[in-house]
Amino acid sequence: MKEIRLHDKTFVPYINKDKIAQAIAKLSSQIDDYAQDETIVFVVVLKGSFIFAADLAKSYNKNAIFEFYRLKSYEGTTSTGNVQILVDIDDELIKNKKVVVIEDIVDSGNTLEKIIEELTKKQPADLKIATLFYKPKAYTKDFKIDFVGMEIPNDFIVGYGLDYNELGRNLPEIYRLKEEKMIDFILFGPPGAGKGTQAQILKDKLGLTYIATGDLFRHHIKNQTPLGQKAKSYIDKGDLVPDEITIDMIKEIISDPNIKGIIFDGFPRTVKQAEFLDKLMAEKGLIIDALIALNVPEERLIKRLLQRGQTSGRSDDNEQTIKHRLDLYHQKTEPVKEYYKKQNKYHEVHGVGTIEEVNQRLLDVINSIKLRS
Ligand code: IMP
Ligand code: MG
Repeated sequence: MKEIRLHDKTFVPYINKDKIAQAIAKLSSQIDDYAQDETIVFVVVLKGSFIFAADLAKSYNKNAIFEFYRLKSYEGTTSTGNVQILVDIDDELIKNKKVVVIEDIVDSGNTLEKIIEELTKKQPADLKIATLFYKPKAYTKDFKIDFVGMEIPNDFIVGYGLDYNELGRNLPEIYRLKEEKMIDFILFGPPGAGKGTQAQILKDKLGLTYIATGDLFRHHIKNQTPLGQKAKSYIDKGDLVPDEITIDMIKEIISDPNIKGIIFDGFPRTVKQAEFLDKLMAEKGLIIDALIALNVPEERLIKRLLQRGQTSGRSDDNEQTIKHRLDLYHQKTEPVKEYYKKQNKYHEVHGVGTIEEVNQRLLDVINSIKLRS
């Protein structure tokens, strides 16, 4: 597939010439029906609509007048919400006319809202909206969009007049922003360190895939899969689940080529598992970028785990089980740190503080890793 680079980002082919041409033919005939025998004033919204407007103009056979309106709301790949008029249209060119606005794309609808507000002041006889592309999931307004060429998902696109920081307008087809690979890392720490809470927040903020072996086990056990039944017998005793079972569960998830990045929680728990994981990742062309350890003092861990046992009914509700789990952690799991230290992938974060404070520390580390890679 032919990818292109614009500034710092990569784009992949998305909507071809034929599809665009079809959408324009459809729009042209809809506007034709609407016009009856009246002259339409097309208000072309610059800059993005210049190619669309030209093609639409060529396929539209009735009398038409073209006016140009220039607004700006986007910076980079996000809408700023603040729409400015850079080139205006004289009121008498709109007054008592049948007006059709030509938009390249409607995203949040902020630009459209401003256009409708400003053009309405100029008292057109009627005002309709035509857009080549429409992102229904991003749209936050109630205005009806009268003529839609194509609905698209909430992706950032370029080409055919649309830009990323002014580049890409001259591409004859539409390209979509390629999801940049983020980071695959292990969130590490003893039971009770807050890995689950933090991973959940990071997952939502960064769009990562969260693999918690604890949740995986519970899911398989609840659905009584063969893997789940095997896992259960070990968990009930407070022991570790054998590697083959866990590996099979993980393999299933990381095979999805569309994931942006992975947070591992609760795996690897042994050096042997770490070696397994490296191999498993390599098979998929992936690599563990980091191990980030959450450090929390032991007394605090025991307190947290006792509390959690009381409220959630998890299997760690007595001091004996907790001690057993912490011992296992020190003996078998903690050496995993050394394994990643040797690869220069070890990072640590102070795990005591508010959830937000700890999360910010994690984000700082993740960003520093992203910057290096
Ligand atoms: P809205 O105000 O959020 O609806 O955004 C409308 C304007 O933002 C469009 O006229 C475009 O200039 C720009 N825009 C929105 N989505 C995209 C996109 O996916 N690619 C390029 N520009 C976009
Ligand atoms: Mg733009």
